[in-house]
Amino acid sequence: MALIKVDETKCDQDGACVRACPAGILTQQASGLPAVVRGMAQFCIACGHCTAVCPHGALDNVRAPLSTQTPLERFPVLDPETALTFLRSRRSIRCYKPEPVPRELMEKLLQAARYAPSGHNSQGLSFLVVEKPEHMKGVKERVARWMKALVDSGSELAHKFHMPGILRAYEQGQDRILRDAPHLIVVTAAKDHAPARVTTFLALEYVELYATSLGLGTCWAGYVNTCAQMTPDLAAFLGIPDDHVITGTMMVGYPDEIYHRLPERNPLDLRWLE
Ligand SMILES: Cc1cc2nc3c(=O)[nH]c(=O)nc-3n(C[C@H](O)[C@H](O)[C@H](O)COP(=O)(O)O)c2cc1C
Repeated sequence: MALIKVDETKCDQDGACVRACPAGILTQQASGLPAVVRGMAQFCIACGHCTAVCPHGALDNVRAPLSTQTPLERFPVLDPETALTFLRSRRSIRCYKPEPVPRELMEKLLQAARYAPSGHNSQGLSFLVVEKPEHMKGVKERVARWMKALVDSGSELAHKFHMPGILRAYEQGQDRILRDAPHLIVVTAAKDHAPARVTTFLALEYVELYATSLGLGTCWAGYVNTCAQMTPDLAAFLGIPDDHVITGTMMVGYPDEIYHRLPERNPLDLRWLE
């Protein structure tokens, strides 16, 4: 089947689809109509740009069908102040209400991750939600065990990341590993998925930014991430298939804290190349 189909009655031959194609596989023929360069169809990354950019809906692509795209009259653009305030008001949440997040809401949150950018539009991430308190406890126990082994071995990493204090708190029943969050999102990808870690970080950042609109709070679970990278224990406990690796983890739940100010950051370190 041909990769693209052009409705000649709708195409105004403006070349927008050709310019938008990131893989450079489209060309404008002498007739003005777009076509796939011979032998290049295999390089389509299914990003849907060729279809989405056409104002007339004249182009269809079997790998990114027009029928699956959402038409928008006008793309909403936040004014710069609202946009910056939105970005700045995202907070890492470390106090959670104990009540669980319903599956429907969790799934709605995770749907946002699908729209994050990914290298070559490769996507390819899988999501696992740790739902039950006993499983959250199991994760925590394994992270604490890993931390203890690092501390006992005199590891520099353990001290750099305050692990002795975290372990002391853990032994006293204070959770600085998962902050008593009711759930953990675990992202995995195939071992041979080269851009998986960056893709995961972007996908989870979409989740983090979208969470507030759903009344949810999140926090990157860095200790869990590092533990998962350094030991196979966590992946085994979570039943991650052998051909997959954990690429990112994020706590999630209903926030039990409200912020009243926007913290400041370091000044921008900027240089212009003259
Ligand atoms: C990769 C990464 C890992 C993180 N891991 C943890 C963590 O394990 N526990 C935690 O409480 N916060 C963690 N954080 C949150 C940072 O401490 C937080 O982003 C930073 O202090 C700034 O605060 P803000 O996110 O509220 O702006 C992590 C953040 C990132 C980006």
